[in-house]
Amino acid sequence: MKEVKTMIELDKIYNADCYEKIKEIPDKSIDCIYTDIPYLYQTGGTSKTEMGSRRKKLNNELHNFNLKLQHSDKSKYNSIRIDKYQAQKRLDIVSMDTGIDYAILDDFCRVMKKTNIFIWCSKSQILDLLKYFVEKKSCYFELLVWAKTNAMPTNQCFLSDLEYCLYFREPGLKINNAYELKSKWYESGSNKKDKAKWLHPTIKPLKFVTNHILLATNPGDIVLDCFAGSGTTAVACKNTGRHFILIEKNKDFYKIANDRVNNQVDCQGQYSMFAM
Ligand SMILES: C[S@@+](CC[C@H](N)C(=O)[O-])C[C@H]1O[C@@H](n2cnc3c(N)ncnc32)[C@H](O)[C@@H]1O
Repeated sequence: MKEVKTMIELDKIYNADCYEKIKEIPDKSIDCIYTDIPYLYQTGGTSKTEMGSRRKKLNNELHNFNLKLQHSDKSKYNSIRIDKYQAQKRLDIVSMDTGIDYAILDDFCRVMKKTNIFIWCSKSQILDLLKYFVEKKSCYFELLVWAKTNAMPTNQCFLSDLEYCLYFREPGLKINNAYELKSKWYESGSNKKDKAKWLHPTIKPLKFVTNHILLATNPGDIVLDCFAGSGTTAVACKNTGRHFILIEKNKDFYKIANDRVNNQVDCQGQYSMFAM
């Protein structure tokens, strides 16, 4: 089996902080990075920011739910349902409590053989990423979008019905020639089923991710995802014969991703994350 030197094993998910773990990955050892970075949001944001108010709302929902529990039925079925709801809300909150330090982009470039990187990001991060990869690193880029057909209605502003994925490659790097994989957009409802199954609030559609992996890599290539979440990148790699290295800081998401990739057991059938 291919190895990225001895310290890092392939086809493995690491429960670690990627800013530290990536230092163990040798220079020019990765064929493609496929990642979904946290929002540009620092812990302690006030409720006046969009993310701050979403976080406050989630905290309130969890608080109200816990209050209601005092009068709830204590049957076994109900307690599993309650555990799951609490875990989901807790994870929603945790996933907002991160943020991104763009210093990691230098490490991304260091570990890639040639720049070949997909980055899901929020609208406000697009400019920063273009500046880094296009202005500074002279890469070509594409803006790929996931259009959601069932966005929540909004008041006096556009719908939140697009998610963005930037693709950067250095001049000379070729992608595969497959017409059906080259579309820049993907349309679906916001994947409530996947969210319920794998409990990740920002899970990405496996079909779209798989298309990207097929387009920009070849069988046996090594794909790195530093912000693994529920492990969508690993599933896409496993299904298409690519090697993966994933890093996820949050223990709950790490367990979910491992269960998803190794056993294909969903959160209805697994209780490991509730036993915390
Ligand atoms: C946007 S989500 C990824 C979702 C993923 N694409 C999926 O389909 O499930 C980003 C993930 O990065 C993780 N994360 C944030 N900071 C991290 C860090 N320093 N090291 C490793 N993982 C981190 C968060 O816990 C979160 O699960």
